[in-house]
Amino acid sequence: MCSNLYITNKALTVCSLPILHEWLFFCVREIPPEIGNLRNLEELDLGHNKLVGTVPAAIFNLSTLKEFSIPNNSLSGCLSSIADVRLPNLEVLNFWGNNFSGTIPRFIFNASKLSALDLDGNSFSGFIPNTFGNLRNLKWLILSDNYLTSSTPELSFLSSLSNCKSLTYIDLSYNPLDSILPRTSVGNLSHSLEDFEMNNCNVSGGIPEEISNLTNLTTIDLGGNKLNGLIPITLSKLQKLQGLVLYDNKLEGSIPDDICRLAELYELELDGNKLSGSIPACLSNLISLRILSLGSNELTSIPLTFWNLEDILYLNFSSNFLTGPLPLEIGKLKVLVGIDFSMNNFSGVIPTKIGGLKNLEYLFLGYNRLQGSIPDSFGDLTSLKSLNLSNNNLSGTIPASLEKLSYLENLNLSFNKLEGEIPRGGSFGKFSAESFKGNELLCGSPNLQVPPCKTSIHHTSWKNSLLLGIVLPLSTTFMIVVILLILRYRQRGKQPSNDANMPLVAMWRMFPYLELCRATDGFSENNLIGKGGFGSVYKARLGDGMEVAVKVFNLECGRAFKSFDVECDMMKSIRHRNLIKVISSCSNEEFKALVLEYMPHGSLEKYLYSSNCILDIFQRLNIMIDVASALEYLHFGYSAPVIHCDLKPSNVLLDDNMVAHLSDFSIAKLLTGEDQSMTQTQTLATIGYMAPEYGREGRVSANGDVYSFGIMLMETFTGKKPTDEIFNEEMTLKHWVNDWLPISTMEVVDVNLLSQEDIHFVAKEQCVSFVFNLAMACTVESPEQRINAKEIVTKLLKIRDSYGCFLNLESE
Ligand SMILES: *[C@@H]1O[C@H](CO)[C@@H](O)[C@H](O)[C@H]1NC(C)=O
Ligand SMILES: *[C@@H]1O[C@H](CO)[C@@H](O)[C@H](O)[C@H]1NC(C)=O
Ligand SMILES: *[C@@H]1O[C@H](CO)[C@@H](O)[C@H](O)[C@H]1NC(C)=O
Ligand SMILES: *[C@@H]1O[C@H](CO)[C@@H](O)[C@H](O)[C@H]1NC(C)=O
Ligand SMILES: *[C@@H]1O[C@H](CO)[C@@H](O)[C@H](O)[C@H]1NC(C)=O
Ligand SMILES: *[C@@H]1O[C@H](CO)[C@@H](O)[C@H](O)[C@H]1NC(C)=O
Repeated sequence: MCSNLYITNKALTVCSLPILHEWLFFCVREIPPEIGNLRNLEELDLGHNKLVGTVPAAIFNLSTLKEFSIPNNSLSGCLSSIADVRLPNLEVLNFWGNNFSGTIPRFIFNASKLSALDLDGNSFSGFIPNTFGNLRNLKWLILSDNYLTSSTPELSFLSSLSNCKSLTYIDLSYNPLDSILPRTSVGNLSHSLEDFEMNNCNVSGGIPEEISNLTNLTTIDLGGNKLNGLIPITLSKLQKLQGLVLYDNKLEGSIPDDICRLAELYELELDGNKLSGSIPACLSNLISLRILSLGSNELTSIPLTFWNLEDILYLNFSSNFLTGPLPLEIGKLKVLVGIDFSMNNFSGVIPTKIGGLKNLEYLFLGYNRLQGSIPDSFGDLTSLKSLNLSNNNLSGTIPASLEKLSYLENLNLSFNKLEGEIPRGGSFGKFSAESFKGNELLCGSPNLQVPPCKTSIHHTSWKNSLLLGIVLPLSTTFMIVVILLILRYRQRGKQPSNDANMPLVAMWRMFPYLELCRATDGFSENNLIGKGGFGSVYKARLGDGMEVAVKVFNLECGRAFKSFDVECDMMKSIRHRNLIKVISSCSNEEFKALVLEYMPHGSLEKYLYSSNCILDIFQRLNIMIDVASALEYLHFGYSAPVIHCDLKPSNVLLDDNMVAHLSDFSIAKLLTGEDQSMTQTQTLATIGYMAPEYGREGRVSANGDVYSFGIMLMETFTGKKPTDEIFNEEMTLKHWVNDWLPISTMEVVDVNLLSQEDIHFVAKEQCVSFVFNLAMACTVESPEQRINAKEIVTKLLKIRDSYGCFLNLESE
């Protein structure tokens, strides 16, 4: 492959063909100089290879070139020394992620058609020149992560940008600019500016209130600088602002009430400043707010109205001067994912209501003055991964209910006044003495560096008979439970995802179009992982290496617009470990996309019909349990039932650990009020999976989802699609299974799943027949008579457990 690919076609206008990419990736280390001979070349894209060396000078002389993209390689050299540069037609210059050095090359300022310049992540140094004003078509200016400086103590080059009337995105982050933000030139920047980023630039002085003239801004990121003074009250004019990032500066005064008028605000990061006073009471007006970081300030109180922010996901109030008890109202913030209230002066007892926060992944209350015992209700924090209650005055025993927290990875109860036995079950086996030290009255296993617990059962004979009469049977039961649990664990082989320590807050970012464009390599076909009625899904790798999926809505189709909004709204407030997580979104007039968790194993559909990776009974059961759990959450876990409306195997995605995540909420419905169902004029769901009442009358209800689930259950265990050609109006998948079920399960079960020769055949056949019976209960014709999602979960768990037992008995 490597030897016979020559760049011979001199008429080539586009040079980014996949085959060329492969050849570059595997066969060459340097850019072949022959590319300079392609005198008609308009697009050159050699991004994401492992190219080293310099860029052949002849390429800079290809006057037809419109796009010059070589991002994410290891190219180097000093571009400002290249002599003959003739690139009059250049529109896109994309050099990010290389090692180019020297000053910003001057030829750039001759490319008057340039609209996107991306030099992020190189070693450019010297002054940022005042000549950007020549580039009147410039939309994206990205100079982040270099060694660029400013020629004057005021950022004078900013004023030259006032000529660039189309600028939408400026990113100068991570350059040692060492200067102040000049008031007039900031206010004079293009009105189309959406994103202004100057994170970690050593910028000092105040935040110019003129920034509020730029009313199209959606993101301001000035974090990690030396900005001082007050937060300008004029910011309230920025009605489109979604992200305001001012952390790690020297801002002082109180948080102005005016911030509460930013109706679109999603993320507010003000941590690491010198802000004082109370958190504004009006903050509860910010109904779009999901992330609030106010840590490391001098704040003194939280108004009671604050707890009305019922959709907030992340709260960080750590290292402030907050006092008083934690209010009961915290229990209202039902969708919270992370709480960090450590290093304050909170006192009183921990409200039991916290146990109702089913999505909470971390709870940090260390270094406060909390008293009383750890509520039993903590055992209900089913998503909890990290718990830190260290350095308080907590007393009483460690509730055994914590053993139920199967995702718990990090625990710190050190330096309290806890007593009694340290639980041994659940995740407790993983924790070391470091999690419990400084509690003198705890006892338990010697490897936790605590004394052994005193037992009193040996004392009298009646206690002995009690031991035999009650404790023994009890402990046998206990053993069985433990064995079952172990079995379940082993067979499931699941580990809680390994991102326990990664603060999700840091992950969240506003995504400008260009960044997504970059991360998907220009929405290249190579990265396409799915296509549907509403648009396409691409795999993307972000600058920090994180893999995500980007769902781009096809805006030519009017419906897609609406479905973007629906999906966004839904996903903002619903969270469950078996639902796809939305990391962020990107939205402007012409482009709408959602950035989602990436699922490396693709969809259940792919697995069901692939010949080389066959799922066994356990895997299929576990996947269906995951989907059913997601459904239970949608139907019962939220204040109003959410109806998915489009359950099918292609919407069930599998992560690294083969845990299933339900995706695609583009036609989901929220049933509010008293309604148990609603009527939908347009039928959008997928033929074959759709409940009959939905098809006939457009009636949307939880029962409809249950029907689709039942069909999917049949499909998963028969390996036949409801739309398979062997089925028709008279003989549907459902009728076929129903007819055969009493006679022989073997007729309908997926041939890859079960054969007479299998060991444990009886147990397996039994299990599959239970599954089909459950599928029948899901697909009863009358919606009212169908089983509900809660019952489905219980039944599936039972099937799995009993199957595990069978296997165990047979193998003995
Ligand atoms: C640049 O291109 C012109 C013609 O397009 C050619 O005459 C000249 O020699 C080239 N220069 C270099 C350095 O390749
Ligand atoms: C820019 O263009 C002018 C006029 O076309 C030319 O004289 C100059 O050499 C060019 N500069 C660079 C750095 O290419
Ligand atoms: C503002 O921009 C205009 C051009 O758009 C320019 O003429 C004017 O001098 C600028 N004012 C300042 C103070 O930079
Ligand atoms: C820009 O902002 C300043 C200060 O907030 C204000 O006085 C001025 O009127 C604004 N200019 C425009 C054009 O909005
Ligand atoms: C909360 O904010 C502080 C800075 O104020 C930071 O150090 C800490 O890591 C944050 N907590 C979480 C969980 O992100
Ligand atoms: C818990 O916190 C204490 C200090 O507060 C620390 O010494 C200990 O290492 C922490 N334990 C774990 C498991 O991180």
